[in-house]
Amino acid sequence: MSKINIAIIGLGDMGTGHLRGFDVLENARIHAVCDSNPLAAEKAIKQLKNNKPVYYSTYHDVMQDESVEAVVIAVPGYLHEEVFMECIRANKHVLLEKPVAINYESFKRMKHAADNSDRVIQIGLVYRYSRFYRTIAQKLRGERELGDVMLAWCKEYRQCFPQEDWFYDKNKSGGAIVEKNCHHFDIFNWVIGSKPKKVFAMGGQHVYKDKAGCLIDCNYSLSEPKVINDISIVDHAIVAIEYENGAKANLNLCMYLRPMNVSGDGLEIGFIGSNGKQLIARRDEEFGIFGGERCDGTIYIQSPADDGGQFGHIGCQTQRLEFLECIENSKKPYAGINETYDALITAFAAEKSIEEGRIIDLSEFC
Ligand SMILES: NC(=O)c1ccc[n+]([C@@H]2O[C@H](COP(=O)([O-])OP(=O)(O)OC[C@H]3O[C@@H](n4cnc5c(N)ncnc54)[C@H](O)[C@@H]3O)[C@@H](O)[C@H]2O)c1
Repeated sequence: MSKINIAIIGLGDMGTGHLRGFDVLENARIHAVCDSNPLAAEKAIKQLKNNKPVYYSTYHDVMQDESVEAVVIAVPGYLHEEVFMECIRANKHVLLEKPVAINYESFKRMKHAADNSDRVIQIGLVYRYSRFYRTIAQKLRGERELGDVMLAWCKEYRQCFPQEDWFYDKNKSGGAIVEKNCHHFDIFNWVIGSKPKKVFAMGGQHVYKDKAGCLIDCNYSLSEPKVINDISIVDHAIVAIEYENGAKANLNLCMYLRPMNVSGDGLEIGFIGSNGKQLIARRDEEFGIFGGERCDGTIYIQSPADDGGQFGHIGCQTQRLEFLECIENSKKPYAGINETYDALITAFAAEKSIEEGRIIDLSEFC
């Protein structure tokens, strides 16, 4: 079987997941890896079972390597644009981690470059690749189980981001909502099937706010707990969205739950349709449809381990397989840059609404 030569740039939490995932795919060869921190690279490379990549300490060298056909970009958000633009100039296929960009100006430049490239450009919106959310989309968009989806909610109550400084600096991550919730806005948009029109958000800092420094100890982080200074992102938010078709959605975010999630249902996503029925999804692994003839509900369960979860987030292994398939067959990816547009704009608008204390009409972003 012929193999596609890939390079992975950024070997932290997400890049290491990509490394482990691509390592077991028969049609991929991890030809190169790159991280500016040699220790991060060394730690990640130790996890490989099937590949022996060359190591580069700067991503410029990855671009010069003509054997590299495709690049996985898993560096912090503020570096996405520079690495992505260089990949496009070097004519590489790209799997770019979400969020595409940390602000709208950067996003526009990247989208323009993507629109003018014939390479496969896939975005790491993993939920779009999970069996679990694809089943929900099929039930709601395909089979119209709820009629028209008119109300949606997402409650994400969780612990803090990992103890890496860039997450906590709005100029580097884009803010908590841009960094985290572009995923959830994308699920809303996908399932509602209309365009978001207006966004109002409130948010602030209840716990992670101390200018003198806060001890951050996220339990899945690869790094030791540490004190982070000058936190400029919110640690909680409530975001309301209105759609062109009149549908409404809201997101409730808390990022200071301790320990991670005692009740075990930190993530809940739900929808109510015009026929009065509802679908409620919990923990990315179980959803029920309630109402109508079947008041007691029908429960669907999808084990995260069988949905890509053994290599990171649900959907992530399917996303890698489909990336390779798109390259092999010159296909458009399921989550390209245009599919992420509305979710990212919604996130930018929510951050702006919190800063300016007003409703943001999404026509401001054009
Ligand atoms: N799809 C998802 O569900 C998901 C989940 C988590 C993170 N992410 C995304 O993945 C990306 C990385 O996040 P993470 O949690 O892995 O961050 P991280 O801080 O754990 O890792 C980032 C890595 O990039 C390296 N790096 C920094 N500057 C570099 C440079 N100039 N050249 C090469 N390497 C450099 C760092 O040394 C570090 O090892 C972000 O865009 C984040 O939003 C996506």
